[in-house]
Amino acid sequence: MSTIVMTGGTSGFGAITAQRLARSGDTRLILGARRPAPAGEPIPLDLTSLDSVRAFAASIRERLGGAPIDALVLNAGVILPDAAGRTVDGFETTFAVNHLAHYLLLRLLSPALADRATVVLTTSGTHDPATGAGLATPRHANAELLAHPDRDPDRAPRPRTAGQHAYTASKLCAVLTARSLSGHLDTKRRRLTVIAYDPGQVFGTGLAQHLSLPLRTAWSLLGTPVLGRPLRRLNPTLNGQTAAGDALADLVLGHFTTPPHRYSYAALRRGQLTWTDPSALARSDELAHALWNDSARLVEKNRLPAALHGLDA
Ligand SMILES: NC(=O)c1ccc[n+]([C@@H]2O[C@H](COP(=O)([O-])OP(=O)(O)OC[C@H]3O[C@@H](n4cnc5c(N)ncnc54)[C@H](OP(=O)(O)O)[C@@H]3O)[C@@H](O)[C@H]2O)c1
Repeated sequence: MSTIVMTGGTSGFGAITAQRLARSGDTRLILGARRPAPAGEPIPLDLTSLDSVRAFAASIRERLGGAPIDALVLNAGVILPDAAGRTVDGFETTFAVNHLAHYLLLRLLSPALADRATVVLTTSGTHDPATGAGLATPRHANAELLAHPDRDPDRAPRPRTAGQHAYTASKLCAVLTARSLSGHLDTKRRRLTVIAYDPGQVFGTGLAQHLSLPLRTAWSLLGTPVLGRPLRRLNPTLNGQTAAGDALADLVLGHFTTPPHRYSYAALRRGQLTWTDPSALARSDELAHALWNDSARLVEKNRLPAALHGLDA
């Protein structure tokens, strides 16, 4: 029996992934969820609260009773119309949900990962200016400033741009976290596979739900087969929900050829997994190291277990 722990399996392409994982033979799928899940065993998790992350990790350890986790899938995410929201812990909401809560979850569950376990973090091509995705691209991955954007002297004055920056920067953080994790001695000793997954652009999911009505409407319409299919033929970065969900399941189940990189950036293009490089910022060991340590400081009141301490300053 293999055990998979996943966030973001209740809607969008993650729900397709969850259904496939739950059907894949002798697998126990545990979903961190705010609402009823389409597959697997749901355990309450609200990523806007670090206490909820701690409670989720504790429930998992209790339910598993020492059995190891074979795959950890950190797929949940939000995009908001601005960067004005704060979580109960006082952090900017997009950064807190997309990066900080997942970082804490990774640290808390790391001791329970099996040798040769797989960790997948869902990122986005929007973190990379080269993809020309049209959102404000990340200026930095400074955790302190992302957690408290009002302290950023170069913050975007327009709320919409600030919201886009919060999203794309949080997705840069996902790639940098994968980079740090993969370079860790403990990761190498346990031969973990670490993948940052860029699903391309997947219209029709729940991701646009907090955006303006015109954007939400366009997002839904472009996700319909009648508009989506012809567009996907024209633009290689566009993918349908089934392709994006199936590709994530393939990564989790190891149904791919591992590229010979220290860590892998898997981008879905024309419905196929490709192994490519993330942005220049995402390839910086210095940034990755700083983000890891600064994130540890931001969640430190939540006391981290000893595993993966080596990188902490
Ligand atoms: N769609 C795209 O074009 C695209 C492109 C690149 C990357 N991505 C990334 O892919 C991932 C999945 O996105 P999607 O498009 O499938 O969007 P989606 O349909 O909105 O799915 C987001 C998932 O995250 C969960 N989630 C959000 N906030 C949460 C919270 N506070 N606590 C616990 N769970 C929370 C949602 O749970 P609920 O069901 O409770 O809302 C849902 O399961 C995200 O990380 C997104 O950033 C998407």
